[in-house]
Amino acid sequence: MNTAVIYFSQTGFTARYARWISQAAGADCLDLAAAKKARLDAYDAIIFGSWVRAGTVCKLNWLRRNLDTVWAGKKVILFCVGGSPIDNPETREFLGNLRAELKGVEVFYCPGGFRYENMSILSKLMMKAFWKAFSVKKDKTPADEEMLRMISSSCDFSDRKYIQPVLESLNR
Ligand SMILES: Cc1cc2nc3c(=O)[nH]c(=O)nc-3n(C[C@H](O)[C@H](O)[C@H](O)COP(=O)(O)O)c2cc1C
Repeated sequence: MNTAVIYFSQTGFTARYARWISQAAGADCLDLAAAKKARLDAYDAIIFGSWVRAGTVCKLNWLRRNLDTVWAGKKVILFCVGGSPIDNPETREFLGNLRAELKGVEVFYCPGGFRYENMSILSKLMMKAFWKAFSVKKDKTPADEEMLRMISSSCDFSDRKYIQPVLESLNR
């Protein structure tokens, strides 16, 4: 199947997953800026990956706009890359909502991490505010403590094993 992997990444985790997927699938790999200039009608399948910011997938509107127009009839897969663990109940709910909305799109989640050295100033400020809100919380649950520890410094949860469901979906 002629496949394009398109990604939008700020600090590099989504780009890394896109590279892993495109290598394994023998697909073309394009960042979003290049994809916007490319002719995507030649592809049978589109795999779009983007990172999660404040509970939403960045550039999801771009995918929504293309779904019923340029990509009608194509196989479309979305992989979201976030800092939360894959088995987190909030992550599951978030994926469930996306699947309910994006009918016909297979949706997956790949844990990324936090790479403060590559973040924009706005992202760093948002993370600082998030950290502060958590740190002043009274009666923190173990999950809160874990979250605080996780976002306190750069960390990497990415692993090639998370691309397996994406590849299986492509080959179905
Ligand atoms: C401002 C900001 C908000 C974020 N919000 C979330 C979120 O709501 N849920 C989540 O799982 N991860 C969240 N993250 C973590 C990113 O999704 C994570 O760092 C991801 O790996 C970034 O991917 P990238 O390296 O491709 O840019 C947030 C990160 C930043 C900087």
